[in-house]
Amino acid sequence: MSDREAYYITTPIYYVNDIPHIGHAYTTLACDVLARFMRLDGRNVMFLTGTDEHGQKVEKSANAVGKDPLAFCDEVSQRFRDLAGVMNYSNDDFIRTTEPRHRLSSQAIWQKLVDAGDVYLDKYAGWYSVRDEAFFDEGELSKAPDGSFLAPSGAPVEWVEEPSYFFKLSAWQDRLLDFYDANPEFILPLTRRNEVVSFVKGGLRDLSISRTSFKWGVPVPGDEDHIMYVWLDALTNYITAVGYPDERSDSFSTYWPADLHMVGKDILRFHAVYWPAFLMSAGIAPPKRVFAHGWWTNEGEKISKSLGNVIDPVHLVETYGLDQTRYFLMREVPFGNDGDFSRAAMAHRINGDLANDLGNLVQRVLSMIHKNCDAAVPHAGPFETADTTLLQAAFDMLPAVRDELEVQAIHKGLAVIWDVVGQANRYVDDMAPWALRKTDPDRMATVLYVLAETIRHLAVMIQPVMPDSAGRILDQLSLGADARGFGTLGEGGAPLIAGTALPKPHGVFPRFSDEDA
Ligand code: MSP
Repeated sequence: MSDREAYYITTPIYYVNDIPHIGHAYTTLACDVLARFMRLDGRNVMFLTGTDEHGQKVEKSANAVGKDPLAFCDEVSQRFRDLAGVMNYSNDDFIRTTEPRHRLSSQAIWQKLVDAGDVYLDKYAGWYSVRDEAFFDEGELSKAPDGSFLAPSGAPVEWVEEPSYFFKLSAWQDRLLDFYDANPEFILPLTRRNEVVSFVKGGLRDLSISRTSFKWGVPVPGDEDHIMYVWLDALTNYITAVGYPDERSDSFSTYWPADLHMVGKDILRFHAVYWPAFLMSAGIAPPKRVFAHGWWTNEGEKISKSLGNVIDPVHLVETYGLDQTRYFLMREVPFGNDGDFSRAAMAHRINGDLANDLGNLVQRVLSMIHKNCDAAVPHAGPFETADTTLLQAAFDMLPAVRDELEVQAIHKGLAVIWDVVGQANRYVDDMAPWALRKTDPDRMATVLYVLAETIRHLAVMIQPVMPDSAGRILDQLSLGADARGFGTLGEGGAPLIAGTALPKPHGVFPRFSDEDA
């Protein structure tokens, strides 16, 4: 395989009980941005997404529409696959838990847990939330106005009593705490890490890992009355996709342990407590990081089907534009926090950051070059301090953004880039190249060269978030596919060559007005 450093990043696999909405689109988008960044930065990337197709929730949804579960899964899973086209995701694989490779892998990890002495047969009697696919203690529940119990998510719970295999999670408490200690950045953001650590310190109970009252799941090896608990099956997808149970395979040894599992805050416990415990029990290294992002609300309201305010990513892209949507979702909210979607905020970002700040900069500079420099990269004369200051700011972007993305601070990475956009706009105003045209054309050429070089850096840097728009800017700088990687940036990079012919410029970031909706 490649000798470039590997980077394995995963999204949660999505339940196929319903079609994709903004929450799903968001998680995968964040991973797409990180995956694209790492590829441009020379890493050997494996970016995985897919669908979680077993369990009671999916079985019930299939029954409700009178479909065979697999036929139902085929249909809904395809909607998630199609989302990649809509949102321009660059995933390398798409896994479905109903695939044979996954059945093999889940049964193999089950056997490892058994071999480790961590599995025993007993009976489960307790509360279960089908919507969360999770078991709850009575102490965790609240009461609905009608007297029924609700899970912390607000989902109804039902009483379940059935034979079940259990995983000795209680025995892993200290080893998990040691693991968190030894890997202080295993869970980010740190506030979430603290929540997980106190949850584990509070004591862990053994976990029911099989069900007998329905059939839609992976059969437990050697006891086909049981199917595996959907979360054990689902979490295993992350190793299935890199070749488990063949731990000696090239792909497993290249990509495992994963660099990053991206998840929403609601499913952190499964990823940061159960999953490392399963893996350690099976003798497999835990992933390097789990990052929990926040949740979106819509115009201040919780998003829910019953409120009828679910945001369809296809609609977003049609209304606001693909790269505009991608930019907004990554920029508007500090990554990790909850955030609110609103038309006003979207219009503000599109017209401010994109049309006015970046779009205008590119348009102004390229038009001036086209008109005044024979439609070619201008020749630079000696640099003045203002020139080298701006160029240095452009050169410094990559390492600064790299540091932010190392801890998944995607919004901060964008802020670093937009800081340079701001500096470049101020430089245009200060240098007033339109005035230099008559008084000092050589100096004008130098200023426009410095700006073109800055724009090249900006366009290369925004590719992970806005691949199409960045590509259109790079086309206007006559830069081909091999001149767009991060290796072209910085002092020793691949600066624009004076005299290179440039095509007629055209705007890349249109303004948004309410009539566009
Ligand atoms: N199938 C499980 C994951 C198994 S991973 C081994 C699951 N699926 S899900 O389809 O319900 O949710 C997937 C992701 O969507 C979660 O990360 C969740 O946080 C995210 N979102 C769902 N609604 C959301 C918002 N309103 N806002 C942001 N993300 C949200 O859980």
